[in-house]
Amino acid sequence: MIILGIESSCDDTSIALLRDGRDILSLQTQSQFEVHEQYGGIVPELASRSHVMNILPLLEKALTEAQIQIQDIDAIAVTKGPGLIGSLLVGLSFAKALAFSLKKPLIGVHHIEGHLMASFLGDKIPKFPFLGFVTSGGHTHLYKVENLSDIQAIAWSIDDAAGEAFDKGAKLLGLGFPGGPLIDRLSQSGDPSFVQFPRPMPHSEHFSFSGLKTSLATWIQKHGIPKDAQTLSNVAASYQEAIVDSLISKLKKAITKTRINNLVLCGGVAANSRLRSKLDSCMNSMKVELFLSPLKLCTDNAAMIACAGFHRLQRGEYSELTLDATPYIPLHVES
Ligand SMILES: Nc1ncnc2c1ncn2[C@@H]1O[C@H](COP(=O)(O)OP(=O)(O)OP(=O)(O)O)[C@@H](O)[C@H]1O
Ligand SMILES: [Mg+2]
Repeated sequence: MIILGIESSCDDTSIALLRDGRDILSLQTQSQFEVHEQYGGIVPELASRSHVMNILPLLEKALTEAQIQIQDIDAIAVTKGPGLIGSLLVGLSFAKALAFSLKKPLIGVHHIEGHLMASFLGDKIPKFPFLGFVTSGGHTHLYKVENLSDIQAIAWSIDDAAGEAFDKGAKLLGLGFPGGPLIDRLSQSGDPSFVQFPRPMPHSEHFSFSGLKTSLATWIQKHGIPKDAQTLSNVAASYQEAIVDSLISKLKKAITKTRINNLVLCGGVAANSRLRSKLDSCMNSMKVELFLSPLKLCTDNAAMIACAGFHRLQRGEYSELTLDATPYIPLHVES
């Protein structure tokens, strides 16, 4: 069975062809980095227009790489939300037109369910029940996943998401956008104990990052943006360490409370090298099995949407052509 996956919730246009829920025949992602770079953030109207320009050529490229015809597609999975409404509508309208003309099922997928399903495309398939941790640009959500029909949120950020903390921190340090990969790279040569940034809300099971961002802003007000490369790396590494420590301490709390010993890590921040290595050794010592999303599938991509669509279709779930895009919908799946 070949599923076409379409993802256009934010600033990446992505098309995937996935065979039997595991085998990525083609994954084509067009970043809009150059469109938005000069504005220091994503401009929604420009994002929608770029999706319109990119989406058809990406599908053509994917079909060529996979060496299949459009008629070989068995179903179409598309992100229905959450995300930027104009961006979502481009992908959804494209998906509906294809489903209608090819007479194939349409499957609307929640973007965060997609991030969780990226881990099913890794070498090690997650075991149920698991704690699914989605840490991205817009979400820092921990889910208890009994099975794919029973997903409950058990902890979340009360303000900024971890990815947002990376992006805003990088902006304060004058590094550019998106901040996560830049801070990650810079931190490799930095001393994480150089500045003792706070670990926010240590006693709560929920996450918070806006205070941490303020403490970086306060440090910069006092000392200025470091001019020499080593000090800049040290400050970046210290800031990253505070985010990583905070994430790990909440995960440890949730593991102890739920006694679930399988942990899935996904979303853009799951690509962070410090988080991956620290979490790996910490989970090892707690005898928790860690399932990491493949690096290239941590940030937004259509393979994860196709994978979620495949599993929905296996359960006999698909959408009507009246399906609408929704900018905000919490993920809550219960059979
Ligand atoms: N190596 C990294 N270290 C830390 N953060 C990273 C890294 N790579 C990417 N990120 C962060 O991940 C985020 C992008 O991830 P993703 O594409 O999953 O988020 P999003 O789709 O914008 O948000 P959401 O999925 O919540 O709607 C950005 O905030 C980026 O800075
Ligand atoms: Mg995302």
